[in-house]
Amino acid sequence: MSDPTDPFRLAERAAADLAERTGGGDHDVAVVLGSGWAAAADDLGATEATVSTGDLPGFVRSTVLGHQSEVRSVRAGDRRVLLFLGRVHLYEGNSPATAVHPVRTAIAAGCSTVVLTNAAGSLDPDNGVGRGVVISDHINLTGLSPLTGESPPDPYGARFVDLTDLYSARLRALAHRVDPDLGTGVYAALNGPHFETPAEIHMLRTLGADLVGMSTALEAIAARHMGAEVLGLSLVTNLAAGVSGEPLDHLEVLDAGKAAGPRMIEVIRQVIDAL
Ligand code: HPA
Repeated sequence: MSDPTDPFRLAERAAADLAERTGGGDHDVAVVLGSGWAAAADDLGATEATVSTGDLPGFVRSTVLGHQSEVRSVRAGDRRVLLFLGRVHLYEGNSPATAVHPVRTAIAAGCSTVVLTNAAGSLDPDNGVGRGVVISDHINLTGLSPLTGESPPDPYGARFVDLTDLYSARLRALAHRVDPDLGTGVYAALNGPHFETPAEIHMLRTLGADLVGMSTALEAIAARHMGAEVLGLSLVTNLAAGVSGEPLDHLEVLDAGKAAGPRMIEVIRQVIDAL
């Protein structure tokens, strides 16, 4: 008997439920929308089914303004997309396994491509508010891994997953081709929910980070471990602490997302079209 609490088996159960509620069959692409991104979600394609994630095994509700507990089955060209209108974070009190459960579920539901989006602070004044940035790599400063625990069951690979090519070079090139104005940057993932101090931002800059946020890294690791190709897109919603001298505010983050959302969703739509 397989362990029903195993996070991989839980994702498989959620995927089977999700398939049943979305007309059956596999999906191709998962898209996770970060803070503020959901405002433009309707533009990705025709919604064929909407599921409240609260109805699926292993999912917890998001407690963050700007994140909805909803997943849609969307038709984008000839691809079936699972579109998550929000995510759950470590800072809400979730374990790494819970934070990556939507991504694991999507891959168990057939998705071989995972697009992770987020709102991020920029450490580089040249990447100003409203700029879309393709994540080239990350620095995981959460101190956590979604792969901590028992060895994954068959058919999943060993815990010691190689992350050399975590953010797919192919998908990054595609994104830049679709929108040559996109920047490129290394994303530092911290636990939050507090924003950073100016001294911490100075440290992150020294470490080689261009962006800072509170998500994405663990989901990317989990997706890569299950063999999916990962694209990470950040929307700069503020300059990081001390870079501009302005105080930081979550509502400002959401407003910047709303303003740039339609353009960023169009980038995703075109990337999916070109896959
Ligand atoms: N820091 C951390 N996370 C964030 C920021 C920030 O400045 N902006 C949006 N998410």
